[in-house]
Amino acid sequence: MEERIKALRSQMEERLKAVDSREKLAAFWQDVLGKKGSVAELMKGLGAVAKEDRPAMGKVINDFKMLAEQRYREYSERLEQQELAARNRLEAVDITLPAKKQPLGHLHPLTLVKEEMISVFSGMGFDVFEGPEIEDDDHNFTRLNVPKDHPSRDMQDTFYLENDFLLRTQTSGGQIRVMDMQKPPIKVLVPGRVFRSDSDATHSPMFHQMEGLVVDKGITLCDLQGMLDKFVQQIFDANVRTRLRPSYFPFTEPSVEVDVSCFECGGRGCSLCKHTGWIEVLGGGVVHPKVLENCGIDSSVYSGIAFGIGIERITMLKYGINNIGLLFENNLRFLKQF
Ligand code: DAH
Repeated sequence: MEERIKALRSQMEERLKAVDSREKLAAFWQDVLGKKGSVAELMKGLGAVAKEDRPAMGKVINDFKMLAEQRYREYSERLEQQELAARNRLEAVDITLPAKKQPLGHLHPLTLVKEEMISVFSGMGFDVFEGPEIEDDDHNFTRLNVPKDHPSRDMQDTFYLENDFLLRTQTSGGQIRVMDMQKPPIKVLVPGRVFRSDSDATHSPMFHQMEGLVVDKGITLCDLQGMLDKFVQQIFDANVRTRLRPSYFPFTEPSVEVDVSCFECGGRGCSLCKHTGWIEVLGGGVVHPKVLENCGIDSSVYSGIAFGIGIERITMLKYGINNIGLLFENNLRFLKQF
């Protein structure tokens, strides 16, 4: 029997060398320590051993059993280590890999241009005021020297609401609100959304304007042109010039339409400037004395200039956008270009 155990031992060691998986280890356990395994079989054989030799024999079998169990534990641990190492290799993080980029949103082109405009004018000392989008007839028209039934009301197609309220057609009403609150010197911008019943490739029923108002002693049309020169040079190109053309707005006298020399062709003539060398960018003028008086400002002491800039118009010119709809459709392929 001792011979047999010796043989089983070396068989066991041979067999263990080949154990490289949980399955093989389990099979090893079955064959050696299981119900029908070698140890159980040796125990059965103990009956045939002489009585006086049995205790010693039993001990030898037991030693073999303990050895097999210890071997089993060793291999089990070894497998566990191997599995852990394999998993670590698989899950290892390569800290030298570049990180995944999280795409970040950015400001809308209209917001970019609006902020750029504000930054240019605040460099000249302008404050910012925002008025309401639902405005009353008084602020939007009457006190801006546009009485009811006056033909100049037809210049803007208005969305009327109930009780003399309307969706403001222009930010100019902000001039009245500012002058009601503040006495000269005044230097303010009024950016905001405006609404008109108008829609085509260059008009949208909702668009944005930036009003400018300066009121102080001795303000003239020259101040307007000087400020606007600086403005267009910073927004478009340092070499552009402005040109004032006579125009009509009820709240300014004189009124002007302001053109810039074409920044695309330098004034020689191209499709952007329709071969005139000039591009119309905004309206403005000297504040009508009646408007100052409507706000309790003495027009014999003070004078003012005002201007209204279409933010979409500036954005479209600056970036060469030919359809205003692109600015409102939220098409990402378009927006990502800014
Ligand atoms: N409110 C005018 C418009 O929407 C633009 C404008 C013209 C504003 C002349 C002014 C101005 O302040 O002086 O067409």
